[in-house]
Amino acid sequence: MWQEALYGPRGFYRRAAPADHFATSAQGLGTAGDLLAEALARLAERHGIRRVVEVAAGRGELLSGVARHAPDLELLGVEVVDRPDGLPAHLDWLVSPGGGRLPDELTGLTDTLLVAHEWLDVVPCPVVARSAADHPWHHVEVDRTGAERTGPPAIGADLDWLATHVPDHVGRAEVGLPRDTAYSDLVSRVDRGLVLAVDYGHTRDTRPPGGTLTGYRDGTQVPPVPDGSCDLTAHVAMDSLGADQLRTQREALHELLGPATIPPHDLARTRPTAYLHGLARANALATLTAATGLGGFWWATSRRGREHLG
Ligand SMILES: C[S@@+](CC[C@H](N)C(=O)[O-])C[C@H]1O[C@@H](n2cnc3c(N)ncnc32)[C@H](O)[C@@H]1O
Repeated sequence: MWQEALYGPRGFYRRAAPADHFATSAQGLGTAGDLLAEALARLAERHGIRRVVEVAAGRGELLSGVARHAPDLELLGVEVVDRPDGLPAHLDWLVSPGGGRLPDELTGLTDTLLVAHEWLDVVPCPVVARSAADHPWHHVEVDRTGAERTGPPAIGADLDWLATHVPDHVGRAEVGLPRDTAYSDLVSRVDRGLVLAVDYGHTRDTRPPGGTLTGYRDGTQVPPVPDGSCDLTAHVAMDSLGADQLRTQREALHELLGPATIPPHDLARTRPTAYLHGLARANALATLTAATGLGGFWWATSRRGREHLG
């Protein structure tokens, strides 16, 4: 039902642009998106990358920023809608089925940075709650009005995942298996390069006790009703993805861009434009790295064909 509500013929993401409903590090927060794009351009340069591919490209906001910072990089956006108007001419586009499924054509990528920014949180996954004696977990089913009922017991691979990744204090959870599978599939599309998934999420020690499924519409958090009227999202179990490296956005951006330093006051008098630019950059970096906000997002990276990469 989650899949249908977001990616079915009348699904939310078939009609809605993410930027119309919420802001992310990539868009909707002033110059922050441009700074994130700069960081990706630096990451690409560091690894000798010649192409950046973005899954869950929204309306091309982040890739357009990358184009400004690194005009020589080849760019490809992958989304569930047709290519938006007004993108840089050299930015290619591929239409995707949606959710955990990627286009067949996305394969054999070389010298590529493959980015998925806030994709995994909208890959549908089972919602489960602990139950009594006979079975440890039951699925939580929902109808189109959002009313919940207890479904069948969780069994097989779902149950194994829960036993491995969910500690005792958690009473309701999202089974991360479809996100793990989606991430593995993403990584498998690159023969040589770097894969980066950025998302909000948790690790075993910080799993929220009551789960995280929620909805967003028009900039507001709403009940997760699967009728196609709102986004449906849940935090990602980042530590089960199997990435080579997991670090916070704060760590990643400080390493790529340096610390957020306010320009000296004197500059306001001598070079006012440079001063304002420096101030905006420091503010944007502070926004992207705030410890209790976007800085707590996770960057999961995997290298492919590492012997060829710097
Ligand atoms: C939360 S939004 C993030 C958009 C953008 N990356 C950003 O950070 O602003 C999730 C996006 O993922 C897209 N999406 C979901 N499944 C996808 C798939 N399999 N392939 C490509 N895009 C997908 C949705 O259509 C939606 O635009």
